[in-house]
Amino acid sequence: AGALAACSSSSSTPALISPSGPAVAAADKKRAKSGRTHELPLTAARAMVDLGAGITAGTWAFSGQLPGKEVRVSAGDTLAATLSNQLPDRATTSIHWHGIALRNDMDGAPPATQSAVRAGRNFTYRFTADAPGTYFFHPHVGVQLDRGLYAPLIVEDPREPLSYDEEWVIVLDDWLDGVTGTPDEAFAELRQGMGGMHSEEHDMGGMDMGGGTDTPSSSPSPSSGSDMSMRFMLMGARSPLLGGDAGDVKYPHHLINGRVPADPDVFRTKPGKRVRLRLINAGGDTAYRVALGGHQLTLTHTDGFPIRHQQVDTVLIGMGERYDALVTLGDGVFPLVALAEGKNASGMALIRTGSGGPPKPTTRPKELDGKITTASQLRAADDVRLASKKADQVHRIELTGGMMAYDWAINGKRFDMNNPTANPITVEEGRRVRLDFVNTTTMWHPMHLHGHTYQLSSGGPRKDTAIVLPKRTLSVFFDADNPGQWMLHCHNAYHGEAGMMALVGYQ
Ligand code: C2O
Ligand code: CU
Repeated sequence: AGALAACSSSSSTPALISPSGPAVAAADKKRAKSGRTHELPLTAARAMVDLGAGITAGTWAFSGQLPGKEVRVSAGDTLAATLSNQLPDRATTSIHWHGIALRNDMDGAPPATQSAVRAGRNFTYRFTADAPGTYFFHPHVGVQLDRGLYAPLIVEDPREPLSYDEEWVIVLDDWLDGVTGTPDEAFAELRQGMGGMHSEEHDMGGMDMGGGTDTPSSSPSPSSGSDMSMRFMLMGARSPLLGGDAGDVKYPHHLINGRVPADPDVFRTKPGKRVRLRLINAGGDTAYRVALGGHQLTLTHTDGFPIRHQQVDTVLIGMGERYDALVTLGDGVFPLVALAEGKNASGMALIRTGSGGPPKPTTRPKELDGKITTASQLRAADDVRLASKKADQVHRIELTGGMMAYDWAINGKRFDMNNPTANPITVEEGRRVRLDFVNTTTMWHPMHLHGHTYQLSSGGPRKDTAIVLPKRTLSVFFDADNPGQWMLHCHNAYHGEAGMMALVGYQ
């Protein structure tokens, strides 16, 4: 990782604030700190995980669990998490704290904010999380997120304004890897399962599909065909919400809290109890429409930040997005279903407050076909709405590329891991910045900005990840108040890795 600066000689690459420079330390001083520190060991290693219904899978996980064990702190606390890289195949790794506005050098985004943690090595992430909310964490190397290396991170509010009796964390995931022990076998199964259906195959070129060696961060150029040449299965699936022409990976399983629908996670309480659900989409390639049979959900937070409460039948959650919801439970057994949008397959958990047999694993509560809510229909709560102000800096972020060439990019340029500061989107501290995401493609993209929580235009919700529909433009605002170098990318793990990624740098 020594030659980052050399290449783009004649271009006037602006000088960017470095991830561990004095500006970063100065901004961090301003964070309100509680004085408490949580020490936390986290081992990334191969694991056999039990998905329920007799299905075990060999994959990569944090400390042997899927999802990884929840981390819970209070706003202002400091987390000192020591990642021990015990992954096989000399794979390098990192941990990114998705959604947290932390100090830049702890963001876990190689090669921009650190070099990737080598096999057999440790790295301690030490940072203060000062904004309460529902977050999660995952590696930021290759598509390791899609293997099972993810876990919830909850930052509690010491002055929590909501009242509820129970709080349950619900993590959604599309499971491709390791169904029968190795990704290759999983793909063989996929091919068989597709027999007779209308499908096309597309060569993924150098994509790491979760098998073999993970691209080490020293040579992960997405365009350099590497050792892995997996084939993608494409289906003509269409979503009324997300649009058409979208090829999808066909996943054998959709998991809630690491369980298949035939053997679901079961939550128990009494009828009439008020429950807070923290919904996290940790999937690599799937948006989920989530509903609870027999109930409406009251949405309270988007990506950790409060909104004006909104009652909904069902909410659409893209990869990397989080929603919190309140619900007062009836008497019985209720399926909490995550429908893979456009794919006609789902994950399920059960809520049991009374007697009754479990619903079928394929049950489809009618709420899923009711009014579907997306982030753009929601409003920020008054206390987190950005003061209205004209943008000082505007950047046009064209989302470009297509499924066939798999040349996903930003402004036509695939992100170069070997030269991360080559085409920065530059901002200045103290400025109000507007990003116009212009989706020129026929697929939708959940666009995630590190280190900041932007706001959707005209009073929309605060978010760090938002779906940009095909052929549409989405404008978001943020105040540039967290100096450093931050990744901006599509949270479809495969699009991001292919190159739909850019660096936002403070000047
Ligand atoms: Cu959750 Cu840059 O990602
Ligand atoms: Cu994308």
